[in-house]
Amino acid sequence: MPRVGGESALHVLIRSPTCCLADIEALVESVATESERHALCNAKSTNGTTPLMIAAMSGGRYPAPRAVEMTSIARYLLDRGGAGRTITASAGKRLRAADLAEQHGKVRLAAELRALEAAQLGAWRAEQEQLHEQASGTASLADCSFAAAPAAAPPVRRCTRCGVQLRECKFTAARRAVRSGEQTNPLLAAFFADERLGGSERVMSALSSPALHALNNKREFTREFTEAAAMLFALRRLVSSEAEVGAEAEGRWHVVDLCCGKAFLATLIAVAHPDWSVTAVDLNDEAYLPHFADLPQLSNLRYLRADVLGAGFVGEVAKAVAREGGARTVVLGMHLCGLLSLRAIELAEALPEARGLSLAPCCLPGRRWCPTASWCEPGDHHAKYDRWCDFLEGKLGAAVRRRGDGGDGGPPGGSVDLMRCATCADDEPVVAVEEDAELPPPSCRREVVDAIVSSKRTLLSGVWAAGCG
Ligand SMILES: C[S@@+](CC[C@H](N)C(=O)[O-])C[C@H]1O[C@@H](n2cnc3c(N)ncnc32)[C@H](O)[C@@H]1O
Repeated sequence: MPRVGGESALHVLIRSPTCCLADIEALVESVATESERHALCNAKSTNGTTPLMIAAMSGGRYPAPRAVEMTSIARYLLDRGGAGRTITASAGKRLRAADLAEQHGKVRLAAELRALEAAQLGAWRAEQEQLHEQASGTASLADCSFAAAPAAAPPVRRCTRCGVQLRECKFTAARRAVRSGEQTNPLLAAFFADERLGGSERVMSALSSPALHALNNKREFTREFTEAAAMLFALRRLVSSEAEVGAEAEGRWHVVDLCCGKAFLATLIAVAHPDWSVTAVDLNDEAYLPHFADLPQLSNLRYLRADVLGAGFVGEVAKAVAREGGARTVVLGMHLCGLLSLRAIELAEALPEARGLSLAPCCLPGRRWCPTASWCEPGDHHAKYDRWCDFLEGKLGAAVRRRGDGGDGGPPGGSVDLMRCATCADDEPVVAVEEDAELPPPSCRREVVDAIVSSKRTLLSGVWAAGCG
């Protein structure tokens, strides 16, 4: 069957605004065999979308006539097309057909899809338990042994919560590669040499849990791992530099990981430091994250779904920080795009509990926010990125100085105006940002970590004296 943009003829047909059940039947019944029919009805587009998902999200809310038609199409795909076989598949932000039906106001269809999902997962779970039992003599799937699956293990192992196929643990494979000398990245070597990190069986056992398959299945695992490791080491330096200014590095810390993505970094920190608390923040739905609730070792990790650029953001995080009973706090931001980096500095300065910030800037803010800024001047991409980092370094240095001067954590200079600019109407004049002329003090550190497998390797860290909040 020819494909257009990764979608089959059936995907395209269901998307058409005039498509009806009779059209779908005509197409599906035109294929010769049952297995071809099933293949057509379960085909995934490049981003994982199935025809059932399109039917679930099209036509608006029930009982609009198009919604009724789409519901009939969905039921037909389940019945004649065996679409129940891909009922647990997810696309985009890990949304399944049932989630999409729910989001698009097809409540009854969503309930039917959920019931099918539950039946499918139940069947898989029973099958996996049985195979696990045969292979290892133990009936429990709650342990972390899938990384070391014996030869007799089934070729397909699935997550019993979401049905995703489990593959070999990439953390374990990375450790093997480092130990054999095949992988020489210094950050990964340091991670696995550290007895509190990858050198610890406790840490490796947690990281290889099936509950974390969303991290272990990542396509750009090595890149993400080096980024997280670099930030983890920066965090450690930050915590120990606070010890140098008079407080104890040991004891409870609270780490706020901004724009966490799948929470790769937050997971490493939470596993490595069971006595610390970690709050991972992002805009994404929680379904996008690993199954943290299934892993008791991660009970110290919380997820806060919030818009970092939203007006109430600092207050939202302040509440989460206050819930940690005054624990010393560090704000982290790995690869924050555009204005998110400025917001991270603003947040760290405003939180009385914050002791510092470590930040890896990513993309530059759009030119329209500040056309006169130095990073918008002509130059190649690297030069512009460097100038953007210069600017942020100045902002962070100024924040460190204000806090060091006994500042009370009030609004930081400059960045607030720029933030306001981010929410104003398109053609409003943009805010002119004054760049700080002074050099940052020594407690603001800038480094380019060559071992990060990415073109954006600059880390900016600021630490301020204990108790200055
Ligand atoms: C470049 S990724 C970085 C992810 C992760 N820190 C990493 O290093 O892999 C950017 C992340 O920022 C999140 N994000 C973008 N805009 C956001 C906003 N306004 N509020 C919260 N999160 C946002 C995205 O959802 C995405 O997960």
